[in-house]
Formats: sequence, structure tokens, C-alpha cells
Amino acid sequence: EKGGWPSFMDKEIHEDPEAVGNTLIGRFNAAGDIVLDEVRIALEDFKSIDKIIVVACGTASYAGMVAKYAIEHWVRIPVEIELAHEFRYRDPILTPRTLVVAISQSGETMDTLMALRHAREQGSRVLAICNTQGSTIPRESDAVLYTHAGPEIAVASTKAFVAQIVAAYMLGLYLAQIKGTMFPDEIRGIVAQLKAMPAKIQWVLDTQAETVDKAAKRMLNAHSFLFLGRHVGYPVAMEGALKLKEIAYTFTEGFAAGELKHGPIALVDEGEPVVVIVPSARGRNTLHNKVISGIEEVKARGAFTIVVAEEGDPDAERYADVVFWRPACPTLLSPLVDVVPLQLFAMDMANLKGYDVDKPRNLAKSVTVE
Ligand code: F6R
Repeated sequence: EKGGWPSFMDKEIHEDPEAVGNTLIGRFNAAGDIVLDEVRIALEDFKSIDKIIVVACGTASYAGMVAKYAIEHWVRIPVEIELAHEFRYRDPILTPRTLVVAISQSGETMDTLMALRHAREQGSRVLAICNTQGSTIPRESDAVLYTHAGPEIAVASTKAFVAQIVAAYMLGLYLAQIKGTMFPDEIRGIVAQLKAMPAKIQWVLDTQAETVDKAAKRMLNAHSFLFLGRHVGYPVAMEGALKLKEIAYTFTEGFAAGELKHGPIALVDEGEPVVVIVPSARGRNTLHNKVISGIEEVKARGAFTIVVAEEGDPDAERYADVVFWRPACPTLLSPLVDVVPLQLFAMDMANLKGYDVDKPRNLAKSVTVE
């Protein structure tokens, strides 16, 4: 079943490119327009959506955070992300024009299911992004977009995460199409860039795995890790931190790079490992420069810096002890490649410590209790 791989997690990380590619297949009709898998909402109602609330847990919630940056940019409607278990207990503002997007790999997460039911009771529409055909969450939703990552066996979610980002992006482009907030050519341009992502992920798997493995060996005795990123790099940092704590049982904290000076920098002293996701350097934009100065600051306080950066970024190399390279890609799509070395890193650390990477202690693949 593992197809020659030492673990399901290893196999599934290597299926990231396929998961992204397959989730893009069959999304277009003969006219080239984007279509959803199941829609039980009238087009006019769909067009009138004026707010999105993503409800999800864990890794799926980080996919939702990534999608917020893209959907707000493309569709110009507010997107909120809420942990499903928090959502229900705070009297959220829901109207028939609110689209609640439930993201779930298993389709059986009880927290997410209860949030979805609450939203429908309040008269909102629910769209599911799900990896499991016929599971409860899509069955109870008004519309469905399936991720085609294939069955995910390892407890820690990997290929489902990249597929969730792609599906959420397709939802954003679909809304842009029906609301007319983007030109058809712009939409097609982004779809073409998405179609180029599987090869870029493959490049990371083929060329960076050795560097990642060496870094894991060097970091084996580290007690804690900080992960930081800005813009779409922020949810990637959160996800990298979650993977490492889940399977390598190492204390990690992910946070927005801009928060550094508001608190977390106090944790940095000699040898503290800090993982930083660096945005593209193209145009030497402020986003890039701000993240680089964050690395410089932690480096000045003795941090051991592991940096994920675009191939050839000279600034990233200047303050990095280790660099995991990614091929050039548009900023909004970079999470699809940036998360890959972090998935590998967590797996390597857990393997080196002798832990079962597929079945981490205390965790279940789908959490069917609240
Ligand atoms: C992380 C992980 C969990 C799940 C979360 C939601 O590796 O596996 O954080 O992402 O429990 O599960 P689903 O997506 O099945 O609703």
C-alpha cells in the first residue's frame, strides 16, 4: 500500500504535485468557464454573496487563511477565517448573503460539521471543500468542491493541504467569474499559473530533500522552533509549526513576522532555531524587505536561521544558516511550494527521533467528537 515508500507520510508528501494537478482537472466546461462539483444554490443567490466565512480546524484552517489573501484580492468581498469550534460559541453574524466555506479533508470533523449546521440554521449557504466523496460535510452542504488528493492515510495532513488551497483558489476564481470582478483573460492567466505548480513542487522534492535532511540532522537536539512568515507566508509558517509539533513532538510556535518585535523576539537567544518564509524578491518590494529585516534581527541575537526563499534571492542567503529554495512563482501561489520543505523537515525530524510518522501519539486521523 505504501508503494515502496517507508511511510504513508513520505508517499503522500511526494504526491503533493499530483494532488495539485488532479484538483485542477475537470473544473471547466466546454466554454472554458469554471464549474463547481455540486451546486444546490441558484446562480442569482451565489452572485449576491457579500461575505465569506471559512470554518475549519488545524491544517484545513491554514489553507483557509491562505485563500483569504487571494479571494479578497480577486473578488473584493471580505473573507474571515474562524476555527470551527470557536465559531459556534460566539453568535457570529450570518445572513443569507454570507457564504460559509467548510474545509475538511475527512469530511467528518465534528467541530466543522457543527459549525456548518449552525450556519445553515441561521440561513447562510454552506460550500464544502472536501477530500472524501460522500462524507457527511459535503452531504450537508449547499455546494461542493472536491479536492482530488486521493486517500490520505498518515495522520498529519500534507497533500490534502495543497489540494485545499487549490480548491479554495478555484472557488475564488469562480466567484470572480460570476460576479465579474475579473476579466476572463485574467482568470485564465491564473489558472495557467496554477497548472504550472505541480512541476515546481516536483522541483522542490527533487532538489531540496537532501538539504532538508541535513538541516534536520543538525537540529536534532533543538528544544523549540519559531516559524515566521508574512502575508501568505504567515499561514505557511503556522502549518510548518503544526507539522513539526504533531509528529516530532517538538515545541513550536508559528507567528506573523511583523509580530516579532511585539513579543516573540524575547524568546530568541544563542542557537534558537527560527524558520522564516521569505516572499519573492522581485521588484525588491517592501513585503520582501520587511521579512529580510526580521531575519537580520533574529540573526543578530544569535538565532540559527532556516530560510525558505526564491531561487537566487541574495538577501535571503545573507542571513541564513540554511536555505530551502523554491522556484520563482507568483506570491499568491507560493504557499503550494513553500510548505513542501517544511513537510519534509517535520517528517525527517520525526524519523530521526525514531517516531512513527504516520501515527503520532494522542492524535486520530479524523476527530469525530467535539
Ligand atoms: C494536521 C491535521 C489536523 C487536521 C484537522 C482537520 O496535520 O491533520 O490539524 O487538519 O483535524 O481535519 P479535517 O481536514 O479532516 O477536517
